[in-house]
Amino acid sequence: MAHHSQLWLLLCVILLCAVTSQSSQPLTIDGEKSAVFLSPSFVLGPGSVENKYYYNIDFPRGHIALKGFDAEVVDELGNPIPLHDTYLHHWAVMRYYGRARTGTTDNESESELHTSNFIEVRNSGICGTTLGQYFGLGSETRHTETHVPGPYRIEVGNPEEIPDGYEERWLLNVHAIDTRGAEDRLGCTECRCDLYNVTVDEYGGPLKEGYTGGLYCCYDQTQCRVRQGFQGVHRRLYLRYTVKWVDWDDSAVIPVRIYIFDVTDSGKRSTNPFKSDANLGCKVEYEVNSCHAPSRDNADCTDSKKTRLAIPRGGDIIYGVAHQHTGGIGSALYGEDGQELCKSIPVYGEGEEAGNEKGYIVGMSTCYPNPGSVRINDGEVLTLESNYTSSQMHTGVMGLFYILVANPLPESTIFALSSVHDHISSSIYVYGLVILGVVMAVAVILGFRRGNGEQGYQTIVM
Ligand SMILES: *[C@@H]1O[C@H](CO)[C@@H](O)[C@H](O)[C@H]1NC(C)=O
Ligand SMILES: *[C@@H]1O[C@H](CO)[C@@H](O)[C@H](O)[C@H]1NC(C)=O
Ligand SMILES: *[C@@H]1O[C@H](CO)[C@@H](O)[C@H](O)[C@H]1NC(C)=O
Repeated sequence: MAHHSQLWLLLCVILLCAVTSQSSQPLTIDGEKSAVFLSPSFVLGPGSVENKYYYNIDFPRGHIALKGFDAEVVDELGNPIPLHDTYLHHWAVMRYYGRARTGTTDNESESELHTSNFIEVRNSGICGTTLGQYFGLGSETRHTETHVPGPYRIEVGNPEEIPDGYEERWLLNVHAIDTRGAEDRLGCTECRCDLYNVTVDEYGGPLKEGYTGGLYCCYDQTQCRVRQGFQGVHRRLYLRYTVKWVDWDDSAVIPVRIYIFDVTDSGKRSTNPFKSDANLGCKVEYEVNSCHAPSRDNADCTDSKKTRLAIPRGGDIIYGVAHQHTGGIGSALYGEDGQELCKSIPVYGEGEEAGNEKGYIVGMSTCYPNPGSVRINDGEVLTLESNYTSSQMHTGVMGLFYILVANPLPESTIFALSSVHDHISSSIYVYGLVILGVVMAVAVILGFRRGNGEQGYQTIVM
């Protein structure tokens, strides 16, 4: 009986997804939990940079199913800090197995760094040594929906998968740049090497020839140029993050795989991780040349970068979002047949306050396709496109695309849904199903509201 009602619930949820077509409003499922944590603190003064890795951060434990991860930078009083003060270059959350410890005397980050104590659990993506995170965003973090919709879940903490003697833990990387008093705010956020007076990388090695800006010039403890005489206090800051999850329940959930694609991915992979190679894939960042440069002939001043990449295992896309930096004007993922699978557009702020900072990307639009409506095949070759305005040069920009992919549902459950999507204009029978879906969905929503309270979402609608 219990099983039966769960199936019904699932069906209702799917129908609800079907009838809320084109809306990016995700669902709330009963039993969802949420917890707010603070990262370890970091201190920033005008022009300074923190790029820290925090091992074994506070995180819900046990066999759970993640539903979302949101984050922002706050001060000691919990006030949100605007991007023009502290530019959040990125945060990323990685999953790993750390060797179980006895006692608490260990220096955690030191012991964790020993390779035998640390087993990264990467997402399903294809980048090999980079972009293995489960969640990650940058300046857009305050208004980018991360919610995993409907019955879909990111499964973590399955005890059967954790090696003996290890525990599942989480690693947080926060890269923040204080641009108070900066001579050139955009230049500091784009990590221009001249503004940082940096000529060697973090490990003292030479920069690649022609490298003028990017992560290799704004590493931890570097300093961007500030206006002469500018005074600003040092501030103690935190990444405040909210994790949403539900307890694991085999019967009611559909796991998803996380893929992160990179527009700089040439498909080449290194055989020697210590040898750098300019042609390697997944360089994470790239440069946009100004369309006014003599060598360029680009009338509309759009830099459109594309790459083709094969997805090992396909399925239904149930969520998608791109990551771009200032100057970004949109990104899309296309299937092998050229069909658009998901398009994600930046939202720029227009004011002063945190979450609406003028000139900064404060949100990215997301895709929540009807489950089953956007399907990719195993091994399908996708095209990723990332557009920037090139009216001026940009260094250290990114073109990432994050998608969640689920195995297709069994035909019996998907039938109504695929009918709704494919033949909506040609079948009265389907309209009947849709109406039935609405009725059931309303019933479900009412049930959820009663059980759960209403949950507010900030959905970016372009
Ligand atoms: C722990 O080890 C790290 C890395 O070696 C070091 O930077 C840090 O100062 C150490 N912390 C303590 C409390 O010893
Ligand atoms: C830049 O770096 C060089 C060498 O590291 C140093 O001599 C010089 O004083 C620095 N300039 C500024 C403005 O900090
Ligand atoms: C990117 O720019 C190209 C060329 O201007 C355009 O055809 C394409 O539709 C753009 N894509 C996105 C996702 O905005």
